[in-house]
Amino acid sequence: MSGSKKRGSGDRGMHVKVKTAAGRRESSPRWLSRQLNDPYVRRAKADGYRSRAAYKLIEIDDKHKLLISGYRVVDLGCAPGGWCQIAVDRVKSTVDSPKVVGIDYLDMDHVRGAVFLKKDFLDDDAPAALMEALGGHKPDVVLSDMAAPTTGHKQTDHLRTTHLF
Ligand SMILES: C[S@@+](CC[C@H](N)C(=O)[O-])C[C@H]1O[C@@H](n2cnc3c(N)ncnc32)[C@H](O)[C@@H]1O
Repeated sequence: MSGSKKRGSGDRGMHVKVKTAAGRRESSPRWLSRQLNDPYVRRAKADGYRSRAAYKLIEIDDKHKLLISGYRVVDLGCAPGGWCQIAVDRVKSTVDSPKVVGIDYLDMDHVRGAVFLKKDFLDDDAPAALMEALGGHKPDVVLSDMAAPTTGHKQTDHLRTTHLF
């Protein structure tokens, strides 16, 4: 890796170049380069959000006003937790009375005010587990930012995404 100022990058700051090691797949340095140079990734870090996706939900909610104070929210595919953070803040969910429950089969660090279920959303008992985490109440809002892990093999990725839908 080497640092150099990118032309025309405005306030994006230092551009980080990622070199490809011989034999390494093209996609991993491309992903790393995008992460390191993405202004939203930097902004998320500065604002204390777990992911750049947090800004996606902020934009959606500013426009459509889905997250009303007191609402119960299910967040499908919640890791690493950016959407949970925004949802907790907007519906005013607390540790004593959690209104936000997130589910993901990947591990996630605890988000204060949210309940986390480490579970596959496609499991038969997932709906009941989500309801139980909301104290037996139905959610007012169901959010989903779920994405099936991609392999780069088009047919496999298509099948995985279709299955998730
Ligand atoms: C784009 S990330 C979500 C980012 C999240 N909205 C945030 O703000 O941090 C997509 C997530 O969906 C999860 N996911 C995909 N399929 C899932 C499934 N069947 N059950 C639970 N989680 C799933 C992945 O593990 C991944 O963490």
